[in-house]
Amino acid sequence: MSHALENRIAIVTGASSGIGQATARRFAAEGAVVIAIARRADRLNELRAESPRIEPFPCDVTDHAALESCVAQTIQRHGRIDVLVNNAGFSFYERHTESTLEHWRQTMAVNLEAMYVLAKLVAPHMIAQRYGRIVNVSSTQSIAAEPVVGAYAATKGGINAWSRSLAVDLAEYGILVNVVAPGCIRTEMSIINGVDETTTPDFQEWYVRRRKIPLARPGTSEEVANTILFLSGDQCSYITGQTLVVDGGLSITF
Ligand SMILES: NC(=O)c1ccc[n+]([C@@H]2O[C@H](COP(=O)([O-])OP(=O)(O)OC[C@H]3O[C@@H](n4cnc5c(N)ncnc54)[C@H](OP(=O)(O)O)[C@@H]3O)[C@@H](O)[C@H]2O)c1
Repeated sequence: MSHALENRIAIVTGASSGIGQATARRFAAEGAVVIAIARRADRLNELRAESPRIEPFPCDVTDHAALESCVAQTIQRHGRIDVLVNNAGFSFYERHTESTLEHWRQTMAVNLEAMYVLAKLVAPHMIAQRYGRIVNVSSTQSIAAEPVVGAYAATKGGINAWSRSLAVDLAEYGILVNVVAPGCIRTEMSIINGVDETTTPDFQEWYVRRRKIPLARPGTSEEVANTILFLSGDQCSYITGQTLVVDGGLSITF
């Protein structure tokens, strides 16, 4: 075991499955205390059973009062917050003509607004410490297009742009802000209408056999968590405002 985050205090959203869960596990293994946020308390409690360093805080990230109390309790218990990983996200899958303003707003509230709210709550503490790492999770949908995910793509592009501005804003306090943009990662999110998209004949033909993904496979949550870990620790000291794509080369091919 290495100790890349020894005694660091980290908040990770979307920690009940996929990328967030892998990040919480990895952070705890690296010595961090992890405040794990998601709605499914049972999943967070399972993580807690794996590692006492993982402290569940079950809530919906659109509940701003709950986020405020999460940050207040973390400061009360641990005295500082070193790392914020804004990872919770979801998508509706609908053509523009069938989409609704209600779904647009829900997507904005979870994928973008909650990141802003948590970063705003955490920033004063990081400023006082003169230290912080904020990692926001966007997507390759922020740089290339597919149909049916318009609102999702808008939030993900927003994350990249907002994070650059935040990075400039907070740089003087020793706070680094970066984005991880995953491509096709096998998680609960890749299951659409009960079908794991990464196992369909189309995916296997185009993305794997014809190597639209040059590395010819979907990625794993652990591979994304490794990248988040790097951007969350002291090894990352001269990188800020960047979007690091973790997609097996998907976004560099025609
Ligand atoms: N998988 C991919 O291919 C892929 C590609 C690009 C980007 N991403 C991004 O990676 C991030 C993680 O996704 P994933 O692939 O790991 O999917 P996932 O396994 O479905 O995980 C999503 C996480 O977000 C949480 N979440 C969703 N809505 C929430 C809410 N309202 N309040 C609190 N937590 C909420 C979920 O927890 P609860 O349901 O328990 O609340 C879950 O822990 C997302 O931002 C996603 O957009 C994924």
